[in-house]
Amino acid sequence: MKSVFDTLAAMGHEQVLLCADEPAGYRAIIAIHSTALGPALGGTRLLGYASDEDALVDALRLSRGMTYKNALAGMDVGGGKAVVLRSGAEPLDRERLFRAHGRFIERLGGRFITGEDVGTTPADMELIRRETRHVKGLAGEGGDPSPWTARGVLRAIQAGARHRWGSDELAGRTVALQGCGSVGGRLAAELHRLGARLLVADVDPDRARHVAAELGATVVPPDAIASVQADIFAPCALGGVLDDRAVQALRAEIVAGAANNQLLEPRHGDALAARGVLYVPDVVANAGGVLSGGADLFGWTRAEVHRRVQAIYDTVLRVLEMAASDGVSPQLAAERLAEARLRERAAAG
Ligand code: NAI
Repeated sequence: MKSVFDTLAAMGHEQVLLCADEPAGYRAIIAIHSTALGPALGGTRLLGYASDEDALVDALRLSRGMTYKNALAGMDVGGGKAVVLRSGAEPLDRERLFRAHGRFIERLGGRFITGEDVGTTPADMELIRRETRHVKGLAGEGGDPSPWTARGVLRAIQAGARHRWGSDELAGRTVALQGCGSVGGRLAAELHRLGARLLVADVDPDRARHVAAELGATVVPPDAIASVQADIFAPCALGGVLDDRAVQALRAEIVAGAANNQLLEPRHGDALAARGVLYVPDVVANAGGVLSGGADLFGWTRAEVHRRVQAIYDTVLRVLEMAASDGVSPQLAAERLAEARLRERAAAG
């Protein structure tokens, strides 16, 4: 088995903290993958894990993903992630928990800036803020990132269409959309506006029905949406949807959506390529949300955020062209492009 340090070295992490404040019921891992482009930016998730090792692996994987996402989005920030372990003990004393977390973040002196993630809320961020200013996404601040994420995913779909079919035109194309939530619902509206035909699914039937009624979409059962006959499959619900079974059953020519970590394992990226399916890596496609944070972090205007979200199109094309010319999966090409940007920056001092 690899040692912890070998794993860190292989994944390229700078620093990983194991944090504990037992009286507060607080145990957490803060993983700082890279500060080469700026302070490590990444959410804090609150989750129960089967083991501490699972939590560590999650923190390591997610923080590296943040470095890549930020670098590919052209953001001058690095990548990090915090995982607060949820024990079985209920109820949680959220104030003690998140204030303890805030104190650990404060001790990092700005090397790590956090925000909301799975299992945490703007109210939790307010609690962290009582101990440190290195937190974003407080209630009433920054706004909802989902419209920006949806717009970025649309641009990613258009770039995928251009690469695959030689045209951005989506009129008459059929899109199978998984998940009609904050991002999926908005993406559906944008696709409808451009004349695409929509097949939609959601485990919450009301959400799917709502989109169908509003946009004239067809509702598909959730377990069938990944394998329906469509031109494009847009996963906007959960991670890990592209597993062995889904990859084999896919009938779409392009996969591009908002969900994080769509590939269950890296090999599924190769399996998609082997089946001739064009995969637009989520790390590029869903960057609209992080880009919208530039308003808070760097004072970008709305127009500046818009310009950068639109440019997701160019980054996707570049990644897909690299993948084709290097003979690798788009996911690997995206990682290579991110690493090249990090090296460029390191060389520039
Ligand atoms: P959301 O929670 O508003 O929507 C997710 C929807 O998917 C819900 O309506 C849920 O009922 C549905 N769903 C869950 N499991 C499903 C299944 N098996 N089949 C069909 N539908 C299912 O979440 P949101 O904000 O729209 O995000 C969607 C995805 O995009 C998530 O994976 C999220 O991590 C990712 N993402 C979101 C960003 C944002 O700005 N909101 C930014 C970057 C990534």
